[in-house]
Amino acid sequence: MTPEPFDAFRYAHDRHDQVAWLSQNTNHLVPPEVVRSALDEAIRARRYEGYPLGSGDPELLALVQQDLGLDGTVPCLTSGGTESLYMVARALLHDGDEVVASDPSYLIIHRFIELSGARPVCLDIYRPPYRLTSEAIAEAIGPKTRMLLLIDPLNPLGSGYPRDEVRAIAELAHDHRLLLLNDITYRDFSDGHALAATFAPEETVTIWSVSKNCGLAGMRLGGLLARPELQRSIARYNTNDLGVNVLAQVAARAALRTKASWIGEVVRTTRANDRRIADVVRGIDGARVLVSPSRANMTVIDIAATGVAPERLQEELLRRHGVFVRAGTYLSRTYGPRFVRVSFSNPPADIERFARAFPEALAALRAGAPAPPAR
Ligand SMILES: Cc1ncc(COP(=O)(O)O)c(C=O)c1O
Repeated sequence: MTPEPFDAFRYAHDRHDQVAWLSQNTNHLVPPEVVRSALDEAIRARRYEGYPLGSGDPELLALVQQDLGLDGTVPCLTSGGTESLYMVARALLHDGDEVVASDPSYLIIHRFIELSGARPVCLDIYRPPYRLTSEAIAEAIGPKTRMLLLIDPLNPLGSGYPRDEVRAIAELAHDHRLLLLNDITYRDFSDGHALAATFAPEETVTIWSVSKNCGLAGMRLGGLLARPELQRSIARYNTNDLGVNVLAQVAARAALRTKASWIGEVVRTTRANDRRIADVVRGIDGARVLVSPSRANMTVIDIAATGVAPERLQEELLRRHGVFVRAGTYLSRTYGPRFVRVSFSNPPADIERFARAFPEALAALRAGAPAPPAR
């Protein structure tokens, strides 16, 4: 019998209290008291017994608007930004449409694009400046182009867009009458971040999330924002007629109410962790960080020159060291076999574990260490 392939997520979830979780760009730095008392109170009041207000808690909706500084439309709440991305693809893309996107990218969006019969046209960004440019996009626009995908900052590279580039890309969308999908999941980690909607309000659909900035990934709350008519046409695909998770809304409201008081420290620790990881990688022959500093809470480490396969490194780090990073294959078919992605909105102790484990694991695999024993 062939052994079952190693399931890293299953393994890590089984041991979640022992694992340094550097694999999903989650945020483990928000002070827990920020949401704890709000959740305690909602649970005591058994808010989960009833449905929430279908359109969403009014204060939460106002806080999201305020946070983004985009007024006009009331945001649509969905189960994570992911569901909004799905709705946008279903509602706005059709057979034969093309979407200008990148490689590497957050490929789940590409899957949604393909489900709608459209095709992502992926521009290579595994080279400086490690992001799309308005020139490259302009060249890629053709008669079938319907949408531009602007993920800013970018998963997995951690790169981001200067304000002038966002403006130039927004102008392209406007001039060519294209939709602009602006995924700003990691916005709070990026100094001077610019929203595409400020430059192309007609064309832009903004996808926001509280998963990463507010440390609420498990709550599954995010949403979208677009001009009213466009948002209505997307919302036809909203399955949350009865609202999204009531406890998630309570937690997000508590986090957004207080965000200004703690986000600075979260970002400072994230940046310090980023520098520590870059230092560690700099000392390893054959490994390199591509984008430093990151504008998000993650970075890509290219290990192609070490000859070690990212999946082997992922498994070695997880099983022998309790450090969970992510092999690149789910983020790029072309470049995935070259890299691992590491996220770092974590307590510095997790980063120190990485600092010890990463060189050791790579050295062991280079020396031909056998695969860790089966569970
Ligand atoms: C670029 C990007 N968009 C969206 C998401 C999904 O966010 P959510 O947890 O809000 O569904 C992620 C998650 O990693 C992401 O990296």
